[in-house]
Amino acid sequence: MRAAMAEAEVGDDVYGEDPEINALEAEVAGLLGHEAGLFCPSGSMTNMLGVRTLVPAGAELLCDSLAHVVRAELGGHAVLGQVTTRTWSAPRGLLEADQALALATPDAGPYLVSTAAIAVENTHNFGGGTVQPIGELRRLRSGASDLGIAVHLDGARLWNAHVATGVPLADYGACADTVSVCLSKGLGAPVGSVLVGSEERIRVARVWRKRYGGGMRQAGVLAAAGRYALQHNLSRLAEDHARARRLAETVAAVDPALCDPAAVDTNIVPIELPTDGPHAPEIAAATAEHGVLVSVLGPRRLRLVTHLEVDDEGVAHACSVLTDVLAGLLASTA
Ligand SMILES: Cc1ncc(COP(=O)(O)O)c(C=O)c1O
Repeated sequence: MRAAMAEAEVGDDVYGEDPEINALEAEVAGLLGHEAGLFCPSGSMTNMLGVRTLVPAGAELLCDSLAHVVRAELGGHAVLGQVTTRTWSAPRGLLEADQALALATPDAGPYLVSTAAIAVENTHNFGGGTVQPIGELRRLRSGASDLGIAVHLDGARLWNAHVATGVPLADYGACADTVSVCLSKGLGAPVGSVLVGSEERIRVARVWRKRYGGGMRQAGVLAAAGRYALQHNLSRLAEDHARARRLAETVAAVDPALCDPAAVDTNIVPIELPTDGPHAPEIAAATAEHGVLVSVLGPRRLRLVTHLEVDDEGVAHACSVLTDVLAGLLASTA
């Protein structure tokens, strides 16, 4: 990847003159079956630009209450896009199209906020790497079209859903008006996300990208990393999924209440700690002492993630450390 970055031919992308970026945008749009793409520094920016092209100021975006767009983009859709949001509750972030559609109030007149779009996340990060069923995504797409509202797909980890299910990327792409994908997560590029949509939407998003300060110049070195990642690191995501299942089974062997291996669809393993035991930061600090880094998502919630820098040996080490730390700390508070 570093060699591909070093060899990249570059130009000024604000003028559309960077060949690597132009190629990456066309490739990702092609994979997802959309007309055009836009390279951005982050998934937060591609989400904000996608939603911005679908939802006018003062109108609303619907999404589930665990969605990254409402939990982890620091209010960007409200602060920068003047968008209001309303949420439905979904265990594991799993989409039920009828539940989402039932919330929609398009053309609500002068009294209620009008719904302009629904956002769906695939795979679902805070849900625990959940894959959205393609049938539900299609139902959402068709119901939203009937209501005259749009769909944005936050596909930061859409690659994982594709590899886990075999559903073609273009089939997922067909379920949304705009799709955001990240090159920087399991695919292993250092930075970069791509928004895809119609030529017209991407033309508008390109203007807003510059306005938000996201117009980059000779950034082809970054696009080259993304293109390398797509060519070399996509199919290997299956290894991350298998390693995540190993981790989940190991944690469940300590106590089945901590984690349900059957609910681990991809590369994310959520751990729910009992309310009368140690807090999540305590566990994370204890595993970190043995070189195993675990995210703390709440006082009782931890998240394990596998990726291309965690090999079989690393997972074996993590399994042994997690078993010792979890069993030790849970026993000490029992
Ligand atoms: C589902 C989802 N969407 C969007 C993002 C935002 O990506 P970035 O960190 O590149 O802004 C993330 C980041 O973790 C994510 O998990």
